Amino acid sequence: MNDHETTEPGQTGHGAALVPAAADGQETLPASLVTDPDHFANPGLPPHVHRAADDNPAAARRAERQVATMFGLSMLFTLVFLVSYFAIPDEATFFLPGIGRAKTQNVVLGLSLGFAIFLIGIGAVHWAKTLMSDVEMVEERHAQASTLEQRAKAVATVNEGVASTQVNRRPLIKYSLGGALGLFALPLGLQVAGSLGPVNVEELKHTIWDPKDNGGKPIRLMRDPEMTPIRLDEVTNGSVFHVMPETLQKYLDEGKGVLEAKAKAAVILMRLDPDLITVPKARDWGVDGVLAYSKICTHVGCAVGLYEQQTHHLLCPCHQSTFDVTQDCKVIFGPARRPLPQLKITVDDAGYLVAPQGFMEPVGPSFWERAR
Ligand code: FES
Repeated sequence: MNDHETTEPGQTGHGAALVPAAADGQETLPASLVTDPDHFANPGLPPHVHRAADDNPAAARRAERQVATMFGLSMLFTLVFLVSYFAIPDEATFFLPGIGRAKTQNVVLGLSLGFAIFLIGIGAVHWAKTLMSDVEMVEERHAQASTLEQRAKAVATVNEGVASTQVNRRPLIKYSLGGALGLFALPLGLQVAGSLGPVNVEELKHTIWDPKDNGGKPIRLMRDPEMTPIRLDEVTNGSVFHVMPETLQKYLDEGKGVLEAKAKAAVILMRLDPDLITVPKARDWGVDGVLAYSKICTHVGCAVGLYEQQTHHLLCPCHQSTFDVTQDCKVIFGPARRPLPQLKITVDDAGYLVAPQGFMEPVGPSFWERAR
């Protein structure tokens, strides 16, 4: 605050505590601050402390080597990432205590990418703390709109900042950082290119409900997670079951690929009055009002696990997509754009529910390559 400024009630401008005025209850400044606007002296900047690298060229070179080492190690981890991406088989797993089986490739890719970026980060921090200029500067406040002269000054300040990093004087750092950042971009590009690649719709359709995975025989519907078969007469009107195919047992026994197999195979089964089912195909693909649908939401793949017995609606808890079971799981609310795929079921000679064929369309979220 300068000599020409006045102080309004309620403002201090000096960080002093507000005190209420006795007459009208409004807050105002303590008298001492009004009469003595320089009450708080400018503490100024503390004395500048020189770092070892500021005065000692050997220390500066040592710091430079340390920074370059970190960038170099980052490059090494990025190379580990690249090699692992191609070298580690997709199905390789190992046991992580306390977590269970983990995909070797995921763990190695995650760790190597994490260390690569971590080392770039700590290298940059070390560089800034030991070599870049740490001279304290005072910047006066100024109006928001800048003049051409101010802009030119800003450009000069940026150039000065770049010069203070000494990046042009220290080619070792310049090139090692360039190499680390450049290589780091490669795995990101690979990931993006990989995830945007063409989608194989046939592959999306395939789940372990495909009878080919069961020697061509129909696949029994099993309770999840007990893995016990379900008889038609056990499914009472209004009841609901969470279901897995009997082919999942093989994955459970081997302890491999269980999550991947389960993720696409989850099915929900319910029984309602057959006369309520308005779509002939849906009725024909069920048995006496027992219908089975994929439990994977066609929005972004959450488990559609809530069944409203009174309305015959299936609800996805993630974004509230609602599917009407009486209308072949048509979407009647929410962001999903496609009905839940139905699984055709029938009954075997022993009275158990079986699926004679797999899903006829991809389960899960919609893709732009799909017809629907
Ligand atoms: S995932 Fe089901 S509504 Fe979004």
